Amino acid sequence: MNTFSFNDGVLHAESVPVTDLMEQYGSPLYIYSKSEVESNWQQYSQALSDQPHLICYSVKSNSNLAVLNILANLGSGFDVVSIGELHRVISAGGDPAKCVFSGVGKTLAEIQEALGIGIYCFNIESESEMDRVLSVAESMGVIAPISVRVNPDVDAKTHHYISTGLKENKFGVDIESALGLYRKAENSSSLRVCGVDYHIGSQITEVSPLMDALDKALELIRKLASEGIKIEHLDIGGGVGINYDNTQTINISSYIKDVISRVGDLEILVEPGRSIVGSAGIFVTKVEYLKQNSNKSFAIVDGAMNDLLRPSLYNAHHNALVVQESVEGISGNWDLVGPVCETGDFIAKDRHLTLAEGDYVALTSAGAYSFSMSSNYNTRPRVAEVMVSKNQHSVVRERETVAELFNNEKIFE
Ligand code: LLP
Repeated sequence: MNTFSFNDGVLHAESVPVTDLMEQYGSPLYIYSKSEVESNWQQYSQALSDQPHLICYSVKSNSNLAVLNILANLGSGFDVVSIGELHRVISAGGDPAKCVFSGVGKTLAEIQEALGIGIYCFNIESESEMDRVLSVAESMGVIAPISVRVNPDVDAKTHHYISTGLKENKFGVDIESALGLYRKAENSSSLRVCGVDYHIGSQITEVSPLMDALDKALELIRKLASEGIKIEHLDIGGGVGINYDNTQTINISSYIKDVISRVGDLEILVEPGRSIVGSAGIFVTKVEYLKQNSNKSFAIVDGAMNDLLRPSLYNAHHNALVVQESVEGISGNWDLVGPVCETGDFIAKDRHLTLAEGDYVALTSAGAYSFSMSSNYNTRPRVAEVMVSKNQHSVVRERETVAELFNNEKIFE
């Protein structure tokens, strides 16, 4: 059984017809498959089974508590970028001691709280941040475990908005300056040097930039060792791309095997997001109106850029599948556009589909950076999320109501 596949002309999520889910939970809707999340995580786990390792799922890609809970039950660690994400992990039953804290702008309050809770490691992004972590740890009388996120200056060959490992990007510390930070950390009794970290970008489909980054990090680890600074773990970040549109991408097992062959007995940390949840979700939206202008055919759907931003923001491609074609459908090349008042509000462009008003269309590979990037623009309540496991299903986030959206606002008097 494929996770999302057609059976008797109807798209199913595991064993459940998507039409049933739409009827029960309404439109638009995010639908996730539990088994797909699990099997994607298992790929990493199996590939790393003979090596000391910690898989730190990148919470930002899909932070729904149900997703986090499924991964926590598998024993996963987590990569968080805010104290809010850390609290999500804890609420979902995850272990904070298996969390790395990444991100360029950790606030004083976040550092204090994370130190108090006790996390695996801070991924340090600048010297100022390291100084701040140091002074907070000193004042709290605790030792902060740190790893420096190095910027290896390699081109990840991905969309420039999601490339992070070039000198011109805001992330990490120049690999040359990192040595100085490690020396400083090593001399401090409130910091414990534990790792080296890098993350060069997302939706990477070729392994060579990742291996270049790995080599640079290993060179740094050797230099550190020659000065007596011992590194326990190497965090290779996330970034493995998924197949949105018959794209050739990285084979996780062989990539991890290559990594293992170079790192000796170092513990490997990995921070995958998209490659765990991307293929495990679909976004389903209903065709409200068909509108044929002289040279363009538009299907106006009830989902919009506030629900699924990736097409508008990155020109990203999600395959569009009609959940169940109706006999009165019209074949053509359609732009799927939402009701938001922006020309940039589109979900898919120029797709050959047979559509009728009232049909449901599923946008595939929408498990990552999809709901988690949604907003309330145009005062649109965020949609419901549903988890499916075999023939079972339930809501894992209720659809927001309009009243909730301005509950916290006040008239100025
Ligand atoms: N670690 C760090 C420090 C990160 O910044 C990210 C993602 C990850 C791990 C996970 O990367 P992944 O395995 O998911 O590629 N919104 C964009 C993607 C932004 C990625 C941000 N960082 C999109 O929709 O394509």
